Amino acid sequence: MLCKVIFCIVLQQCLYQGAFGATVPKLPSYFKICHQSDANLAKCIKKSVEELRPLLVKGIPDLDIPSVEPLIIPEVIIDQGSGPVSLRSVYKDIKVYGPSKFTIKDIKVDLEKDKMRIKLWIPSLKVSCKYSIDGKILMMPIAGSGLSTANYSNIEATVILRAEQIKKGDNIYYNVKDFYVNFDIGDAKIHLDDLFNGDKDLGEAMNLFLNDNWRQIANEIKPVLEDNIAMIFKKFANKIFHKYPKNILIPK
Ligand SMILES: *[C@@H]1O[C@H](CO)[C@@H](O)[C@H](O)[C@H]1NC(C)=O
Repeated sequence: MLCKVIFCIVLQQCLYQGAFGATVPKLPSYFKICHQSDANLAKCIKKSVEELRPLLVKGIPDLDIPSVEPLIIPEVIIDQGSGPVSLRSVYKDIKVYGPSKFTIKDIKVDLEKDKMRIKLWIPSLKVSCKYSIDGKILMMPIAGSGLSTANYSNIEATVILRAEQIKKGDNIYYNVKDFYVNFDIGDAKIHLDDLFNGDKDLGEAMNLFLNDNWRQIANEIKPVLEDNIAMIFKKFANKIFHKYPKNILIPK
């Protein structure tokens, strides 16, 4: 046990040494600086995030952050043996169009606890991917593989970031420890091509069934999607936080 703890500490140290810059680079002008003393700190951070929007569309090569239009999720595997949705399904080359069209509804910042909560609204997301699926949805057998497309609209998302502060040399850096994403979808239209080896009648019937029951199905698979999206944005956030120390991003 003790060995494991020591190993972790050593390993973390190594990771941080690799991740944090030895010299502090100049903050690019596309980052809007907010001061800790700002009476309207949340408002300032809201603006700062909104001003990153065109960069999120283009990607930020300096920070090794790719474009989010589309947001690419290489693979999601949903493998659950029991419950209303019991199936093994693999989704590859997932392309999500629309995430940059977010509106920030609310931001709460707690500097003492290194915590931030953002509520977002996204009008619509268009998703395409390659799928393969085998199992049962609400008692109905389903099987197939091919292309899948979906349109989601009226999406409300809550994002919660919890960070810790890491001292490195003379500087203190944020490290996002927990990144939590939860979303609620207003409406969904999904289509799976080539279900049941391309059997048209069965495939159409199943697509109707999926669309009639999308909300219950979405609730079953949502946690996996939320975790995957959270992982991607946690990485993006840490690319910024590990490069620029706290006193540059959010000076006193
Ligand atoms: C999604 O919307 C587009 C139009 O923007 C439409 O062509 C497409 O058929 C829709 N997909 C689904 C699965 O409803």
